[in-house]
Amino acid sequence: MTAREDLATPAVVIDLAVLERNIARMAQVAEAAGARLRPHAKTHKCPEIGRMQIAAGASGLSLAKTSEAEVFVDAGFDDIFVAYPVVGKGKPERLLALHDRCRLAVGVDSVAGAQALGAPFAAAGRTLDVLLKVDCGLHRVGVAPEAAAGIASRIAGLPGLSLRGVFTHAGHAYHEVSPEGVASVGRAEGVTLAETAARIREAGPSVSEVSVGSTPSARYAIGAAGVTECRPGNYVFHDASQVSLRTGTIEDCAMTIEATVVSVPAADRAVVDAGSKTLSSDALRPRAGGHGFLVGRTSRIARLSEEHGVIDVAAGERFTVGERVSIVPNHACVVTNLHDRIHAVRDGKVEAVWRVAARGCVE
Ligand SMILES: Cc1ncc(COP(=O)(O)O)c(C=O)c1O
Repeated sequence: MTAREDLATPAVVIDLAVLERNIARMAQVAEAAGARLRPHAKTHKCPEIGRMQIAAGASGLSLAKTSEAEVFVDAGFDDIFVAYPVVGKGKPERLLALHDRCRLAVGVDSVAGAQALGAPFAAAGRTLDVLLKVDCGLHRVGVAPEAAAGIASRIAGLPGLSLRGVFTHAGHAYHEVSPEGVASVGRAEGVTLAETAARIREAGPSVSEVSVGSTPSARYAIGAAGVTECRPGNYVFHDASQVSLRTGTIEDCAMTIEATVVSVPAADRAVVDAGSKTLSSDALRPRAGGHGFLVGRTSRIARLSEEHGVIDVAAGERFTVGERVSIVPNHACVVTNLHDRIHAVRDGKVEAVWRVAARGCVE
């Protein structure tokens, strides 16, 4: 078995014991709240990890893109929610083909988008389940809670569609600088969505799924009465941003990048072979602060170019050419998408190499 320190660098390493613990813990959070867990698999894009989540009790998987859903259905997953307002040429027809092969639901946030989605289903005499996206404060996609009942009623009446429920994503929790702030965003996420679901029911349409979730907010949002499902994704790996948000600790980070120091041009500067093509350029959240944590060191990766990570060497620390370092990336989900494979390691030995099967699935 290959040892971690013998991997060619840079390499993405997943600590299996930490991964298993993260999966089990979130499953317990959902079970304790009496809600279903439908993890967002865009974080790992690996059927092997999706199977571990299902084995731990997840009811199905969430994905962002039609092409990701195709990869996971090909891999045998049979209950998929595409948690994204799917709009675009050819997509409804591809979803119709997937509908033959799994229990499928798709996000919508406009009548026009929903109409286009439903058309091929209606023509084929089929019905696609949709969930209306509600904006609980991120202000990205999603209808305003006040407008949801009217829009849901119109979507529920469209041919080829059935309104299964509502969903939201409190991505703005990533901007909160204190655990109390994160908790308050999470609680508001759950309450806002449950109240929106109640208003839609009063207007007529039935709403059976009330789906919340991000890794920082999930444990708070899931506690609101009326929430039925949560969709955290990042929790399988965690990352430097989750540590900064205090959603997890460095010991909860399953993903690290194994890298090699390739140059020490000055006493206060060392360079590793992991740059933006390995770590991504995503900033640390909630506050910018370098490009990943060096495990066991206080020195920080201060800047990146494509193939170089430039370390500002902290006082009292020293790096040597050829030395190996482990980096906890700022944002694990985008790192996965940059790599063809990830190395599953237990006790320092590579137990499996997993292909990132849905890597690059952007349509
Ligand atoms: C719609 C939706 N649901 C769930 C998630 C999972 O959130 P997280 O990555 O914080 O676990 C995301 C992440 O971007 C998302 O966009």
